[in-house]
Amino acid sequence: MRADILLGLQWGDEGKGKVVDVLAQHYQIVTRFQGGPNAGHTIEFDNKKFILHTIPSGIFNPDTINVIGNGVIIDPYILQNEIQNLKQNNVTVENNLLISRKAHLILPTHRLLDAVYENSKGNAKIGSTLKGIGPTYTDKTARLGLRIGNIEQNTFYQHYRDLKEKHLHIVKAHQFDYLNYKIEGMNLEEYEEKWFSSVDTLKSLRKIDSEYYINQCLDANKSVLAEGAQGTMLDIDFGTYPYVTSSNTVTAGVCTGLGIAPSRVGEVFGVFKAYTTRVGSGPFPSELDDETGQKLREYGREYGSTTGRPRRCGWLDIVSLKYAIMLNGVTRLFMTKTDVLNTFQTIKSGIKYLHRGDAIEFVPFESSYERLEPVYKDFEGWQSDISLIKKANELPVQLNHYIDFIEKETSVKIDMVSVGADRNQIIKL
Ligand code: IMP
Ligand code: MG
Repeated sequence: MRADILLGLQWGDEGKGKVVDVLAQHYQIVTRFQGGPNAGHTIEFDNKKFILHTIPSGIFNPDTINVIGNGVIIDPYILQNEIQNLKQNNVTVENNLLISRKAHLILPTHRLLDAVYENSKGNAKIGSTLKGIGPTYTDKTARLGLRIGNIEQNTFYQHYRDLKEKHLHIVKAHQFDYLNYKIEGMNLEEYEEKWFSSVDTLKSLRKIDSEYYINQCLDANKSVLAEGAQGTMLDIDFGTYPYVTSSNTVTAGVCTGLGIAPSRVGEVFGVFKAYTTRVGSGPFPSELDDETGQKLREYGREYGSTTGRPRRCGWLDIVSLKYAIMLNGVTRLFMTKTDVLNTFQTIKSGIKYLHRGDAIEFVPFESSYERLEPVYKDFEGWQSDISLIKKANELPVQLNHYIDFIEKETSVKIDMVSVGADRNQIIKL
């Protein structure tokens, strides 16, 4: 078998968690391959809402094995909270959560460093989630990091202390008042204590050499789904650098984040919203800084699931969508939050950018630094409630027109349209 991949084609928050939850019943293994608790995957069913940060979205299906791969970075404290929250809702992880020994650990001082770096950037802030993502991946690349497998070694505490000391050195050099900085409402010392007790909990979870595990599963014809976090436009290489996250969010990240060969990649499911959102700083050509943007935010409940920040909202951007499809080799598209557009008289989609007087159809290097003005195409809105529709043939003609247009522009079929937050509100095309 080959591993299928599901990832976001915009700036994250495309509704990946919901789609994975829907797909999970078809997969024996669901796995995360990059990112960390900067992610917030929201899943709703039976009038309950769950937000997953580290655990794969297949956890609600007791028959699905969930693997946190080597490319993921883990904060034990956040993971433990997540596990407890699931437990309170009778979802257990003992039997179906496996963690790669090679996944790196987010230390309390990584979170501190995140704040130090953001603070020092002044107006050029990335808008980081402050979960320690950048500093942890930095230490991984600098060959200083601590990994899950190190927890069981008796050198762990010394290694921890050495790294912490290095971090505090940087913190002090920035004259950052770390003694008064709060992490999860605690000062560093208090948080460290909680963090270490979470490390103890981690010891009881099942740890594996996930590259062997995944490859053996594929050899045994088991179905594997890799669940992306963040989105393509936040990719460290291809996103709107430097306003990006610190991992490869694209298909290629699956190979390094799980240890599978490119030839083992199967279908690539690309998830995008019927419009666009972004949380944090950085370029966003089709952003709407007006009433229409406000309406999208309100109807789409566009507030960050990890940080609670209001998300920036705008129209669908076909140029960057095509870029994302190219980078990922997307074979099927899933469009989410379509119902949010229910009341709009006119819906727009950016089909080109005006860049230094030219109309272009690609994402130029300068897109990170200069404002690109989108050229829009207008669509008539359907102006009806589609949230209860179950069958494709009941969709309004105006929506079909929008779907046809996107398929034609991207040369990829839209397989599923999501029309509400619940796992049942999904229409197969
Ligand atoms: P970091 O990954 O926390 O350092 O944040 C870097 C940028 O990526 C910031 O603009 C964040 O808002 C954004 N970001 C990180 N994770 C997510 C996510 O899961 N969804 C949406 N945006 C994210
Ligand atoms: Mg999210």
